[in-house]
Amino acid sequence: MSTSLDDLRTGLEELRRANLEALAKARSVDEVEQTRIATLGRARGGLNDYKAHITALPPADRPAFGALFNTVKQELEQAIASRHAELSASAPAPAAVDLSMPARRQWRGARHPVTIVLAEIEAIFRDLGFTVATGPEAEHEWYNFGALNFPPDHPAMDMHDTLYLERGGLLRTHTSPVQIRTLQSYPPPIRIIAPGNVFRRDFFDASHAPMFAQIEGMAVDEGVSFVDLKATLANFANRFFGETKTRFRPSFFPFTEPSAEMDVACRICNGTGCATCKQTGWVEILGCGMMHPSVLEAAGLDAQRYTGWAFGMGPGRMALQRFGIPDIRIEYDSDISFLEQFAQ
Ligand code: PHE
Repeated sequence: MSTSLDDLRTGLEELRRANLEALAKARSVDEVEQTRIATLGRARGGLNDYKAHITALPPADRPAFGALFNTVKQELEQAIASRHAELSASAPAPAAVDLSMPARRQWRGARHPVTIVLAEIEAIFRDLGFTVATGPEAEHEWYNFGALNFPPDHPAMDMHDTLYLERGGLLRTHTSPVQIRTLQSYPPPIRIIAPGNVFRRDFFDASHAPMFAQIEGMAVDEGVSFVDLKATLANFANRFFGETKTRFRPSFFPFTEPSAEMDVACRICNGTGCATCKQTGWVEILGCGMMHPSVLEAAGLDAQRYTGWAFGMGPGRMALQRFGIPDIRIEYDSDISFLEQFAQ
């Protein structure tokens, strides 16, 4: 190495420039460490090479070169320390994140199949001009039976079917009391549906439960006929199930005359017969009929002037059909692996 002052200066400044550049480019603490060893260490090619030359210079040149040497050394020491600090702060802590750990499963929640069916039925009837009405689950006997034309000794009023409350009244056995409550509150023309839970002293089996959802429907006006009833319910069935066959069978309810039950072709077997439809190819989804004049009168209407029809359907049974569920008890199990199939 040349020992002239100018050459030494140039060499030292080049060493500074090259090392500052190397530090700026360093991407890891290891690279900074390599620069530190090469620059400040004892090996050749670093600052150490220049140290010996200080004493070899003429005395007049020594202070200036010594000062430059010290400045460059301090500058490089500082640059190394700060780059080291920067890179060790941004490096990920190796033990904090376990990349092999399985991700947490996102559970989105789902609506219950009966809730889905209720919402669809409501949407269809809203579209047909019906509004939604409600009534209490704990009900007076008169609303549940008397006003609905049940004779006092009717078997449905027997203790085995009805859950009576200790302090009087009962848990409603159907949503039909909402017919009376609505007629007492609003003048015709009336078109309502009334969804809600009902209660019976029933054994739990594949198609019966002691508490289940019903949807009541009612239309009252002058000149309302059985034709309106049939057309409305057949239209509803086509919308709910997709094009489907329906049939009306004569039936009996104290509060309707004439009365009928509506069946749809079983969706599980397409009408050919299976366990769900008990080999008949048909599944009953609702009871209906023309409102009995004494029901209209019990609610305070003139039965000479007004006629009406009503129906009560079971969304729990309709959900079995709609989703191919084999046993109604599954609807009450709160079994996550069943329910999560309905997540949307
Ligand atoms: N309330 C009847 C039942 O629970 C259903 C029904 C409602 C029938 C309205 C006719 C008219 O079975």
